[in-house]
Amino acid sequence: MKKLYIVANWKSNKTVSEATEWIERFKIQESRIKNKEIVVCPSFTSLPVLKSLIMNHKSNIKLGAQDISPFDEGAYTGEISGKQIKEFADYCLVGHSERRKNFGEDEEIILQKIDQAIKSNIVPILCISDTNQIQNTKYKILITKMIIAYEPLFAIGTGSPDTPENADKVASEIKKITDVPILYGGSVIEGNVQSFTKMPNIDGVLVGGASLDAQQFVSIFKNA
Ligand code: PGA
Repeated sequence: MKKLYIVANWKSNKTVSEATEWIERFKIQESRIKNKEIVVCPSFTSLPVLKSLIMNHKSNIKLGAQDISPFDEGAYTGEISGKQIKEFADYCLVGHSERRKNFGEDEEIILQKIDQAIKSNIVPILCISDTNQIQNTKYKILITKMIIAYEPLFAIGTGSPDTPENADKVASEIKKITDVPILYGGSVIEGNVQSFTKMPNIDGVLVGGASLDAQQFVSIFKNA
């Protein structure tokens, strides 16, 4: 049975109390987690409280950050370094299309961020909208240590996902470059998650909107 990653990207949503409520409502039998790695990526502000709740519940849910500083710790006002993130999270999204678009993240910055994550022992989940974004030879050195999420732009937050067949084709192209876990993201919901996770080259999903409701995310987890 392949290992599946079910990743929630809450984006810029949820106060600390809303995040706490979500965790209290996200009730799954831990024994069902087995081959599924659940990763919740909240805002930085909610990471500490979620970390302690997860520890109190002796839960296997993992945490991820949504971003990481491209620099080491030091004089970089407003940035959160890999070392700081590692206190709470084992994963980190890098290069999400919303960051590329709204914050002008280019390849150089993204490579620096991946490098910082790996140095801090955090698994980067690199988001790409097409395979051209990993052609730079600099990725070749780093790429073996990451997870890649294929998220076509037309599918993010639109309710119009890619077809499972095309997503699987893209995943197989990426696997020719490097054999790392490949996730599909873009309008994944409880009703379509399995059509993606059953594809041979897809190792999980990155879920935005449908992860905000704990019950919906339980259903996604169960159906995956
Ligand atoms: P969506 O977002 O599930 O709301 O389409 C996915 C993402 O942006 O990671």
